[in-house]
Amino acid sequence: MSAADDLIGLALATALEASGFVRESRPPGRVEVADTKSSPTDAVTELDRQCEELIRARILRARPADGFVGEEGDDVHGTSGVTWVVDPIDGTVNFIYGIPASAVAIGAQRDGETVAAAVVNLATDEAYVAERGRGTWRVVAGERHPVLAPEPPPLAHALVGTGFNYVPEVRAHQARAMADFIPRVRDIRRIGSAALDLCAVADGRLDAFVEQGLKPWDLVPGGLIAHEAGLVVTGLDGEADERMTIVAHPQLLDDLLEAVRTTRL
Ligand code: IPD
Ligand code: CA
Repeated sequence: MSAADDLIGLALATALEASGFVRESRPPGRVEVADTKSSPTDAVTELDRQCEELIRARILRARPADGFVGEEGDDVHGTSGVTWVVDPIDGTVNFIYGIPASAVAIGAQRDGETVAAAVVNLATDEAYVAERGRGTWRVVAGERHPVLAPEPPPLAHALVGTGFNYVPEVRAHQARAMADFIPRVRDIRRIGSAALDLCAVADGRLDAFVEQGLKPWDLVPGGLIAHEAGLVVTGLDGEADERMTIVAHPQLLDDLLEAVRTTRL
């Protein structure tokens, strides 16, 4: 296999390079907001943009016929059947404040199906990769260690990751529904990076994940990492998408779905 055919290798090498670039470029203290997007709290920094440019350049230099969909830039329509879905910094608000939970997230889709992914925590360089049909791995000092999601506790003892949308009306709805949801579980965590949340469920640091409003770049890379670790990644009626993303071990899924439906989360 040539380096360019090795989608998981390209995803990981690029994510590690991008993570190193962002870490070294981050000024001390709080990072300046360059612009806002869906609402005044949905911020973007210059480093989000520069990081995406770096990733775009590396990937399209290796595979010039591929498509590219990044959070910050224009879409590129490719001809190879492979499209890269990229969040240069997932957890931008954490990044701005210096909270060590944001990630470079890179996924590759072939004819619409996610086939390879890499997520790297840019504060710690902790990395996860996944390849469809082959598994999920944590990467430590260049070595891959298989990751299989552990058996979960019952819902009442489950620690559930979630997030809140940047659009005030959506987040008000989420907060109201969450008031009914929280008493049904051990607790919730709002870590601030959906890509890292999905890796955390894969690796047993959360028991499940629920969020409305995720964009493809928030969901695609971590979604494959969760799926290949043995978790179900779904929506309420069909595939996970912007309307709803639910991630759980098969043993927890029915109870979680019922709770999400009942509370209208
Ligand atoms: C956000 C994070 C957050 C989630 C939001 C996302 P961003 O991505 O993943 O955890 O709750 O829905 O938009 O804006 O930091 O790339
Ligand atoms: Ca982002």
